[in-house]
Amino acid sequence: MAEESGASKVLVFGGTGYIGSYVVKASVSLGHPTYVYSRDLTPETPPPKKEILQHFESIGVSIVYGTLEEQEKLVGVLRQVDVVICTFAFPQVLDQLKIIDAIKIAGNIKRFIPADFGLEEERVKPLKPFQELLNKKSEVRRAAKEAGIPYTFVSANFLGAYFMNKRLCPHENPDQLVIFGSGDVKVAYVYEEDLGAYTVKAANDPRTLNRIVNCRPRANIITTHELFALWEKKTGRTFKKVYVTAEELVKLAETLPSPQNVGPCIRHAAYVKGESVIDFEGGEEEILEASQLYPDHKYTTIDELLDIMLVNPPKPASTAMG
Ligand SMILES: NC(=O)c1ccc[n+]([C@@H]2O[C@H](COP(=O)([O-])OP(=O)(O)OC[C@H]3O[C@@H](n4cnc5c(N)ncnc54)[C@H](OP(=O)(O)O)[C@@H]3O)[C@@H](O)[C@H]2O)c1
Repeated sequence: MAEESGASKVLVFGGTGYIGSYVVKASVSLGHPTYVYSRDLTPETPPPKKEILQHFESIGVSIVYGTLEEQEKLVGVLRQVDVVICTFAFPQVLDQLKIIDAIKIAGNIKRFIPADFGLEEERVKPLKPFQELLNKKSEVRRAAKEAGIPYTFVSANFLGAYFMNKRLCPHENPDQLVIFGSGDVKVAYVYEEDLGAYTVKAANDPRTLNRIVNCRPRANIITTHELFALWEKKTGRTFKKVYVTAEELVKLAETLPSPQNVGPCIRHAAYVKGESVIDFEGGEEEILEASQLYPDHKYTTIDELLDIMLVNPPKPASTAMG
């Protein structure tokens, strides 16, 4: 049920994770009563997760501890909210089928956003190891549709801070920057705070019902050469450039063990094939672009993102992909 204020109640699965924490904070700041369904704390729970849960409580988030196997509990929580957003990582993608089963039983959810948040999985054609992972995300999309659950699918292309951390702050060799492919292919970036806001806005927007929302703000589409030139100007430094060719990426994708073979596939898809900026003509659903849907949201530009990376870079995500 929506609050008297009209703000719907938002439940986030995976809210303590990298993207999840941005979604939770955006939900709170957009005025939604916000809930996080989180696995129980144990003596092995890492301190950063405890800290983020404490922070969530301090900003008014309701935390519910439980597993996806506790269906009765899950259904009880779902019945208290309107919107479900899931931000699980790749290994847990198919666990979302349990959330879908519980949503079917609860019967009241007005919008479900599954854990996509990458390249638009229905339209890209990446190398096999990455395609196999995307197939699992597509299976979740299909299950939500078949269950008749109102949905919005959000694709994010390349996350700004996540990829800038990897590309601009190479911890192994801080004096060199790595260029995948020619360096002249355009790539779309969106800052995580903007993705959080776009996701929560889309989850509550009648225009995005049963649609795909793709985040690629026009001003944040840039080649690696352009990005590195801006970074050199910003830092006042000149970095050595090392190229990893398209052929080398394909070879890595074929020879590395799983899941290390996925990173080269993601780089190949975006930096070689340009799949973060492909044309979305055709396809089953209409795809709406987030910054055009929400022009009042002032998104973070590449220049502003580089300032953030220079002064106070966000902590890198634990997920070792891309
Ligand atoms: N486009 C991009 O550039 C980009 C970059 C990174 C990620 N992504 C995408 O974003 C999505 C979320 O990834 P993420 O890196 O934010 O995820 P993450 O940091 O690994 O967090 C996911 C959360 O899932 C929950 N979880 C539930 N069961 C779990 C289990 N068995 N093991 C570990 N965690 C479990 C955890 O929350 P609790 O412990 O509180 O339950 C965890 O905090 C993925 O779909 C990924 O593909 C996209």
